[in-house]
Amino acid sequence: MNVLIEENEIRKKVRELGSRINTDYKGRNPVIIGVLKGAFVFLADLLRETDIPLEVDFLSIHSYNGAESSGVVRITHDLSLNIEDRDVILVEDIIDTGRTVKYILDNLRTRKPRSLAVCSLLNKEERRVIEVPLKYVGFKIPGFFVVGYGLDYDNRYRNLKYIGVLDDK
Ligand code: IMP
Ligand code: MG
Repeated sequence: MNVLIEENEIRKKVRELGSRINTDYKGRNPVIIGVLKGAFVFLADLLRETDIPLEVDFLSIHSYNGAESSGVVRITHDLSLNIEDRDVILVEDIIDTGRTVKYILDNLRTRKPRSLAVCSLLNKEERRVIEVPLKYVGFKIPGFFVVGYGLDYDNRYRNLKYIGVLDDK
């Protein structure tokens, strides 16, 4: 395993993002939506770097991925909150081709939120196939496969404290 982003760099970045959210959403009581499973570690840390009133909810998706994201996504666990007229921040672990987040955004838009922003810890910009508006990005990274801090390979490595690159990927 090679370390790409160390624990302390992540902590510093998450603090920065949290404080931007505090400023941008002051007085607005947003709903923060975590996309499971990948975003749960980031979300948990990000929340504790905010100090404004907010609500948290989760969405689970299953993607039919072969070697590459197809963008064919199914919601396997839906929100419990009604997001109509709410300021929504969608929290993702990583944006790769953009297909998954595009699907989720299209779905959430039908529920008429007042605003909808995306916050992703990682951004593989060079791999993008579909343009998606990202309001908050932690790190822009190269196009290779990464694990740790919530991100998995075959459901493993989510518990790493850092973002790493598998040797044989
Ligand atoms: P997209 O639809 O191509 O943007 O893929 C997004 C989803 O694929 C993410 O939510 C992740 O679940 C997964 N993914 C993409 N790249 C990686 C990676 O490098 N490591 C772990 N999961 C990844
Ligand atoms: Mg994911």
